[in-house]
Amino acid sequence: MGLVVGPRLSAAGGVVISGIDLAEHLVPEARARIIEAFRDHHFVVFPGQALTRERQYQYARNFGEIEPHGGGGSPDKRYAVAHVISNLDKDGNPVDRSSSPVSNYRWHTDKSYHPVPPLLTMLHAVELPPSGGDTEFANTLMGYAALPEETKRRIAGLRVVFCWGASGGKSIMAMREDPPIDHPLVRTHPDTGNKALYLGNHAWHIRGMPESEGAALLEELLEHATQRQFVYAHRWRKGDLVMWDNRCLLHRAVANYDMGKYRRVMHRSVVRGTVPF
Ligand SMILES: [Fe+2]
Repeated sequence: MGLVVGPRLSAAGGVVISGIDLAEHLVPEARARIIEAFRDHHFVVFPGQALTRERQYQYARNFGEIEPHGGGGSPDKRYAVAHVISNLDKDGNPVDRSSSPVSNYRWHTDKSYHPVPPLLTMLHAVELPPSGGDTEFANTLMGYAALPEETKRRIAGLRVVFCWGASGGKSIMAMREDPPIDHPLVRTHPDTGNKALYLGNHAWHIRGMPESEGAALLEELLEHATQRQFVYAHRWRKGDLVMWDNRCLLHRAVANYDMGKYRRVMHRSVVRGTVPF
C-alpha cells in the first residue's frame, strides 16, 4: 500500500497521511506529496510511527536544516538530533509547570523571539497520559482573513517586538539574554503569498507605539485569532508524528490531564526557516 493523504481534518487545517513508514528513506515522490499536503493543510499527522531520535532527525532533514535546541535542561534534553519535551523533572518525575509564564500552555509560535524563526516543528508522541495532553493549533491565515478591513488597514506595516519571556515581565526576561527583535505583525507566507497574523506568547509590544497600547492591541488580536472556529485540537495517540507550519499557526499544549501524576514525553525536531516579511 502506498502513501494515502486523508481528507482535511477541520476548517483550521490538518490532514492525516498513512501508508508510510517515516523510519525508511523518503523517496522524492513521497516527499513532494508531504510538502504539498503541508502547504495546503498546515499540519500533517502521521499515525503509528516508531522512530528513534536519530531516525526522526533523518526524516526532518528532508525539509531543511535542523536547529539545535537552545533552551536549558539536562544535556539529554538538549541533544540536538531530536530533543525531549516532557513534563518530567531532572529525576524523571512528572511535575505540573503549566502556570509558568514561559510554558508552552500559552498560545505561541516556536522561537518567534529569534531573528530567523523556524519553518516547522515536528513532535513524535513517545509517552502519553491515559487521556488528554492535547495540542491545539490556531490558523492565523484564517484569523487575519476574518479581520474587518478597517483593522487590516490599521495594522498593515506594524512590527511586533518579541522577547523571550515577555509575558512574564522584566524579571523573567532577565533570566535569558535574548535581545528583543521585531517581526511583521502581518506576515506573508513564503509558499503561498497569503497573509497571516504573527503574535502569541513572547510578543511584547508594537514598535513605535506606547508599550501598553501595543500590548493591548496584541492581546485583542490574539483573542480574535484563537476563537474556536480557527482552532483544531489534536488528540495524541502513541506513535503519532505531527509536523506543523510555524509561519501560519499558533499552538499550545492543553493542560487537560493530571500533569503531576502522568508522564508525557515527546521528541521534537525544529527545521530552520527564513526571515519573516
Ligand atoms: Fe511550541
